[in-house]
Amino acid sequence: MRITVIGTGYVGLVTGACFAKLGHTVTCVDIDEEKVRKINDGIPPIYEEGLEEILKANKNRIKATADHRSAIMSSDVTFICVGTPSRKDGSIDLTFIKETVIQTATILKEMNRWHLVVVKSTVVPGTTQNFVLPLLEQHSGKHVGTDVGLAMNPEFLKEGVAIPDFLNPDRIVIGSTDSKSTATLKELYKVFTCPILVTNLSAAEMIKYASNTFLATKISFINEIGNLCKHLGIDTYQVADGMGLDRRIGRAFLDSGIGYGGSCFPKDVNALLAWAKKNKENARITESARAVNNDQPLRLLRLLKKHIPKLRGKTIGILGLAFKPNTDDIRESRAIPIVQALLKEGTTIKAYDPQAMPAFKKLYPQLTYCSTAEEVLSSDAILIATLWEEFTMLDYRGKTVIDGRRLEQAKNAQTYEGVCW
Ligand SMILES: NC(=O)c1ccc[n+]([C@@H]2O[C@H](COP(=O)([O-])OP(=O)(O)OC[C@H]3O[C@@H](n4cnc5c(N)ncnc54)[C@H](O)[C@@H]3O)[C@@H](O)[C@H]2O)c1
Repeated sequence: MRITVIGTGYVGLVTGACFAKLGHTVTCVDIDEEKVRKINDGIPPIYEEGLEEILKANKNRIKATADHRSAIMSSDVTFICVGTPSRKDGSIDLTFIKETVIQTATILKEMNRWHLVVVKSTVVPGTTQNFVLPLLEQHSGKHVGTDVGLAMNPEFLKEGVAIPDFLNPDRIVIGSTDSKSTATLKELYKVFTCPILVTNLSAAEMIKYASNTFLATKISFINEIGNLCKHLGIDTYQVADGMGLDRRIGRAFLDSGIGYGGSCFPKDVNALLAWAKKNKENARITESARAVNNDQPLRLLRLLKKHIPKLRGKTIGILGLAFKPNTDDIRESRAIPIVQALLKEGTTIKAYDPQAMPAFKKLYPQLTYCSTAEEVLSSDAILIATLWEEFTMLDYRGKTVIDGRRLEQAKNAQTYEGVCW
C-alpha cells in the first residue's frame, strides 16, 4: 500500500519505518524541515533502538517531505500522528489535529478516488466523530463513509521498545464507521497474528485512554503499597512478585519507584480527568493515581534530607534524566520535579544521562552535565532517577545513594536508601 504519515515524532516515524519494513511505500510528512532532512539521510531525529537500521535498510521505500500535497496525492492511506499536547487545564490541545485535518481535507478535495484518513494520535472520546469528521467533510466537500474513509486506530507502543511493540502488538484496535475503512486497515495489519478488535470511533479512543489510565493507576497503586512496605521493612518487590503470580493481576507495572512520566501517561491521565470534569463526572481513582504520582519523586528528596538536612551549597548528583531507560525523551520525566526542588534548595546539581542530556540542557542549562556517569559519583549524594543499564557498572562503595529505581548494585553504597524499600 502507499502510505502517508503526517507527523514524524515517536509514533509517526516508528509507524512509517515499520510499514516500510513490512514492504509498503511510505512518505513521512513533517513541518520540521530539520527532521525531514535527517530522515532522508537515514538518521532518526529521535533515539529509538533499531530505528536507524530500519530507515537505512528500507530507504528505497521510505522518504520524508514537508509537502503534504505530494505525499497525500500519491498515497492510499494517510495516518495522522501529530502531537496532542496538554493545555493548562489538562485537556488536550487539538490545534495540530485541526491544522492537519484541514490540510488533508483540502488536498483530498482535488482527489478523484477514495482515500482513507486514519487518526492515530491520542484524542479524547468523541473527537474523531464530532471534531475530525465534520472538518474533513467541510474542507474536502466529500462525504465520509462513501467518498472518504475515516478510522481511529490508537497506538499502544512504548518508547524505548517502540519498534518491537509496533511489530509485535498485543492487539490492533480499529475504530471505524464503514466497512471499506475497516477492510483497508485489516489488510494493512494482516501480517500481525494478534487479535484485531473493531469498534466505533469513540470506543477506540476510549480503549486507549482506559488502557493508559489503568496502567498509570497500577503504577501509583504499587507505589502506595511500596511506601507502606518501607515502614515495616517489607520487600515491596517480593510483594509484587507474589501479587504478579496471580494471573488476574500480572507482574507488569508493579515495580515501585518514583512514578511514571513520559509523553503519554501524565498527559492521558490529565486529559481523562479534564474530560470527566467537562462531562460533570467524577474520576476519583484516576485523580488519586495522579496525586500519588505527583508526590512520589518528592519522597526521594525527603529521604535525601534525612541524610543531608541542609542541602544549600551541597553538590547532588543525578543519574538519569530520561523518563525511562532507552529513550532520550524527557517529557514529564520524574527527574524534572527533583531538579526543580533541588534548585529551590540552593544545591549544585551534577547530572548524567546517556541520551537525554541535550534535551534536558535546553530546560535546565544551569546544571553541570557530566560526560560520564562516574563523574556524578563525586557528589555529596547521588539520586538514581532512571534505570539505565550502564548505571549497574558503577562502583557505589563509600557513596551516599538515594535510589528511586531499585538499582541492586547501588546497595553497596556506604549509605543507601530506596524510595519504597
Ligand atoms: N510517544 C508515545 O509513546 C506515544 C504512544 C502512543 C500514542 N502517542 C500519541 O501519538 C501522538 C503523537 O505523539 P508523538 O510522541 O509521536 O509526538 P511528537 O510531538 O514527538 O511528534 C509530533 C510531530 O508532528 C509534527 N507536526 C505537527 N504539526 C504538523 C503538521 N501540520 N504537518 C506535519 N507534521 C506536523 C511535529 O513537527 C512533530 O514532529 C500524540 O497524540 C500522542 O499522545 C504517543
